[in-house]
This record gives sequence, structure tokens and C-alpha cells, in this order.
Amino acid sequence: MKLADNKATLSFSNGSPSVDLPVYSGSIGPDVIDIRKLYAQTGMFTYDPGFLSTAATQSAITYIDGDKGELLYRGYPIEQLATTSNYLDVCHLLLKGELPNSTESADFHKLVTNHTMVNEQMQFFLRGFRRDAHPMAILTGLVGGLSAFYHDSTDINNPKHREIAAIRMIAKMPTLVAMSYKYGVGQPYMYPQNNLSYAGNFLRMMFGTPCEEYKVSPVLERALDRIFILHADHEQNASTSTVRLCGSSGTNPFAAIAAGVACLWGPAHGGANEACLNMLEDIQKMGGVAKVGQFMEQVKDKSSNVKLMGFGHRVYKNYDPRAKLMQETCNEVLAEMGLENDPLFKLAKALEKIALEDDYFVQRKLYPNVDFYSGIVQRAIGIPVNLFTGIFALARTVGWIAQLNEMIGDPEYKIGRPRQLYSGSVQRDVQPIDQR
Ligand code: CMC
Repeated sequence: MKLADNKATLSFSNGSPSVDLPVYSGSIGPDVIDIRKLYAQTGMFTYDPGFLSTAATQSAITYIDGDKGELLYRGYPIEQLATTSNYLDVCHLLLKGELPNSTESADFHKLVTNHTMVNEQMQFFLRGFRRDAHPMAILTGLVGGLSAFYHDSTDINNPKHREIAAIRMIAKMPTLVAMSYKYGVGQPYMYPQNNLSYAGNFLRMMFGTPCEEYKVSPVLERALDRIFILHADHEQNASTSTVRLCGSSGTNPFAAIAAGVACLWGPAHGGANEACLNMLEDIQKMGGVAKVGQFMEQVKDKSSNVKLMGFGHRVYKNYDPRAKLMQETCNEVLAEMGLENDPLFKLAKALEKIALEDDYFVQRKLYPNVDFYSGIVQRAIGIPVNLFTGIFALARTVGWIAQLNEMIGDPEYKIGRPRQLYSGSVQRDVQPIDQR
């Protein structure tokens, strides 16, 4: 970041002296006003619940232009990466800053592949959960639990530890997600098979059984790889900020990523894909496309608390570029599975069309986000609805780690410690219990 030519001047109507604040420019995007010395200079904090106008960090990983509907990983448009690259090369890009050449790519793929197995003891850890536990509950536990198995990579201040923890988590997430699925359906866990691609191996661990050979469908493999690429990073969203805040205390990387998994679970964030598919199924049960109008009236009625899941985004005020790519993948996967007439896909398209023409959505600049179509793709692949957010967590792990490692390496990094505007009781004395 560099100092901009101008500065900001904050003045007060009560006669207090005004304060000059430095302004910085990034490589693209809005400038920022540096308020770090504001409290020392004025005795005042800034107030910004939900971080609507606050940049909590500088970052060189991902850039979103919400008005244009543009998403860049290390400068590369998501459309180019999704159509010409693969997930592990994108992981290399996010972690190391550059797309790998062919030798680096082969080395990186081999390195990740060599870490796909998890400590055998993790099976027994898993057994402590109820069979009907939500996979995100299991994953939060398993990811945090990795720190109990890999003691040699828990020092966040040691670059070697950070590097090996990163590879371990990227490699082991598919194994853990598949294990949480197999545990729920009562099937044997499938060990990873290292001659398969990252996505192919995951498909086999999910849907293969020891009884027969599993043949990976190239269409589904490509679709899953694309889902992983599209979800790999998204700058300072809620779960990434959670990982940064959690990691800022110096906790181990596995614990910080487990915090990200927990945050992602919420329906306003990664849980939206599950919530979106449940919504589509509910409308289908009500009568399908014919009931779309009635459902939309509910969405627009604020007192109903009903939201059109998979629509809207804090940053995108235009079509989410990931949603476009996901819609393409949706067409491909449904054709592969012979589901071209899938009623939920038809319903989703009808909802999208009505929403994009409706004043309520137009005025608020609400467009489909990545989750609007990702659930339909995953369901067609055979992934159960309650595992959708687990797939998102698997794919986002690399983004969380890249952001965590960037923070630790930043000389300006400090433990995160937001301030508050206190509105509770002023000091008072405890009364004896019979006088309260
Ligand atoms: N359906 C109906 N109304 C909506 C929706 C929606 N999906 N999203 C926003 N609005 C309305 C909202 O009620 C508000 O209206 P008003 O100005 O009259 O009060 C206005 O649009 C602005 O919304 P907001 O809640 O202030 O925006 P936000 O930036 O705080 O929330 C959001 C963003 C993603 C949480 C929200 O759009 C939402 O809840 N969407 C549905 C859940 C969803 O699809 N989440 C996935 C996000 S993408 C994947 C990810 O990053 O995890």
C-alpha cells in the first residue's frame, strides 16, 4: 500500500481540534483512511458493526469488484482459472502467489497427494459422534482435532510448521469430509487412492465401496474441481476474518481453521447452499414453478422473515461471477446424469428470472450468488444436502490458510481486538439478595 496524495481531515462541531488522517491506496479498489492513531489523538473510536466500511487488513490474495461482478485470485479472473486451471494449481497460486509451471505443478500435486491419509486413530475419534450428527458438527471437531495428531506442525510462528500444516489440511480435508459422510451412512471408510486427481479421489472416497472398483466420471470430476476452484477464496468474508482473528492470538493453524469451519456453517454464509436447496425443495412440495409468485410475495414481506436463499451478497451488487460459472456446470452435470428436466433446476431458473425482473430485487441490487446453483450441482452428483457446506469448507481451506499465513507474515500484524460502544449500566453496587 502507498500513501495517497490527499489526506482526510476529521473536524468536530464542538470546537475540538480537527485531525488529519493519512489515506492509503492499494493496487486497485477504494482507498482507505488510516485511523490507527485516532483513539490516541481524539479519545474516540470508530463505530462500524458488520464492518460495512472497515478494512481490517491489507491483503494481496483476492480482489472483488462488487459493482462489476469481478473476482480475481492473485490478479487472475476467476473465469480464466475455472476454465483453464485445476484446483491444486489454484491452491499453489493462492498459497505461493504464482501459478505453478509444469514441474512445480507436478511437485505440488505429489506433495499434497502424499498427505491425503489421516492418522488411523481419527476413526476412533469419529466414532464418538452420533451417526446422525450434522457433518459440519463432525468437521468442526475433526479439523480442530488434527492439532492433537500433528504436534510437529502446530507452531504458527515457525514457517516450516505453517507450510506443512497447510499441505496437511488441504490434503486431508477431502478424506475427513468423506469420512464424515461414510460414518453417517454406515459404510466403510475408503482410503485415499493417490493415482487419482484431487477431485477424482474425493469422488471415490465418497461413493466407492471396497466391494467393487469405482470408475470416476470425468464430467463429475471436472464439475467438482470447478466447485472447489470457485469456493477457494473470497477475501475478507466472515469465516476468513474469523480465521484471521482466531489465528491472531497465536493459536495453532488447525484450531484457527476449525474456527473458520464453525463460522462457515451459518446460513448467511456457507450454510446458504444447504438452505437454498431446502428452500427449492419446499417450493417444489408447495406446487413448484406455479407457486413461485406466492413465494416471492413472502420474500418481499419483511414481517415473514423469509429470504430468497442464494440471492444477495454484501460485496456483489451485480451478478456473482461464480454463479454464472456454476450455472454452466449445472447444465453439464445434469446432462451427464440424464437429469436435463430436473424440476429443481427449472424452479431455480424461474425464481432467478422473476427476481431479476422484480423491483424489490432490482432496487436492492440482489443477484444470484454462488450458492444458488451449487446445491443443484452437488445434489445431482449425489452429495447429500447436509454435506454441501462441508464441500465448501473443504474448498475454502486453502483460502483460509493463505490468509492466515499472509497475516502471520505481515509486519503490521497484531492480535485482533475490536473496540466497543458501551451501552450497559454505569457502575453500581451489588445489593444483598433479599433487596434485589
Ligand atoms: N432475500 C430477500 N431480501 C434480501 C436478501 C434475500 N436473499 N438479501 C438481502 N435482502 C434485502 C435485505 O432485507 C435488505 O432490505 P432492506 O434494505 O429493505 O432492509 C437489503 O436487501 C440489503 O440486505 P442486507 O441484509 O442489509 O445485506 P447484507 O450485506 O447485510 O447481507 C447476505 C448479505 C448475503 C447475508 C444477504 O443477502 C442474505 O442473507 N442472503 C441470503 C443468504 C445467502 O445466500 N448467503 C450466501 C452468500 S454467498 C456465499 C458466501 O459468501 O458464503
